[in-house]
Amino acid sequence: DKGGHKHYMAKEIAEQPVVVAEAIRSYLPTGGDQVVLPGDDLDFTKLDRLTMVACGTAFYACLTAKYWFEQLAKMPVEVDIASEFRYREPPISDRTLALFVSQSGETADTLAALRYCEGKADKIVSVVNVAESSIARESDMALPIHAGVEIGVASTKAFTCQLSVLLMLALKAAADRGTLNDEEIADHAAALRGLPTVLNAALDQNDAIRQSAQRLSEARDVLFLGRGLMYPLAMEGALKLKEISYIHAEGYASGELKHGPIALIDKHMPVVVMAPRDAVFDKTVSNMQEVMARKGKVILVSDDDGIAEAEDGVWSTIRMPHVHTSLAPILYSVPAQLLAYHTAVAKGTDVDQPRNLAKSVTVE
Ligand code: F6R
Repeated sequence: DKGGHKHYMAKEIAEQPVVVAEAIRSYLPTGGDQVVLPGDDLDFTKLDRLTMVACGTAFYACLTAKYWFEQLAKMPVEVDIASEFRYREPPISDRTLALFVSQSGETADTLAALRYCEGKADKIVSVVNVAESSIARESDMALPIHAGVEIGVASTKAFTCQLSVLLMLALKAAADRGTLNDEEIADHAAALRGLPTVLNAALDQNDAIRQSAQRLSEARDVLFLGRGLMYPLAMEGALKLKEISYIHAEGYASGELKHGPIALIDKHMPVVVMAPRDAVFDKTVSNMQEVMARKGKVILVSDDDGIAEAEDGVWSTIRMPHVHTSLAPILYSVPAQLLAYHTAVAKGTDVDQPRNLAKSVTVE
């Protein structure tokens, strides 16, 4: 049942305010700002490292979480693609928390990476959508993301629910380790509870996003740029676009542009810039201006302040509501997903069943 939508992907994008609210409610019970994990507790004071392993979109959720665990909980974090991790035989200390993120819970490489960590890591924790999956069963602790069944091959609502749960886990780590004060934790909790409202406001930008996507559908290559928390999202936006529209896309850290990819920029190259008005905004804008000076076509995704400051000379803008800096990657997932969706629809590709892809990759 597509609930009145043309595709499951559209339905799943639209469901995000509701499922993200569910994920937040289940880890952040009303009446307090404490993150509460289901089942056993985890004590982050006993751990000195976090190793996160996943594939595809779940890997980009892990890369985003690295910023959160480092900044909020001051924990060293390693993130790896499961197919590389499993054969590299990385040393794992017994003070490591090994964390596996998987929507299906059946991804062969991620499961193999988990088994590699058995008996080595202090604890094996998974962040999964399918609670009865192999990865959930073989973990010491499984944290459900409450996204509900995801049918579209391109992962959307699972990604924002993974991010929400990972951010709450980072807040729990910060509380255990005393790296955030009560006020900072309360700020994050309030922002998380307000997330469904801003996600709805992002969804309201659907028409503006469709117009930008119309332009993207003519392109052969598209670049996504972001800095800090927006860098993993730039890669996720590029992955979404390539898998369903078959347009070649790459996500780059804005600061890496001049180390190579700027050579690609000409008047045929659309560049999507993900840039909330945060502490690194000015740097990203100066990278964006380098793109425009070479006639690259910029789609700027930002908030009112960011657009007011930087819209001169851009091709189009996509306006997002203001949000707590930590939560921006969750909110900016919506325009990333909708850009890919509408581009694919404009090109007439099979959005829910893109060629050559399977929903669950159970072979390596
Ligand atoms: C992208 C996508 C894939 C999956 C990857 C991992 O839209 O769906 O990249 O994210 O195959 O799958 P799970 O999360 O089931 O382990």
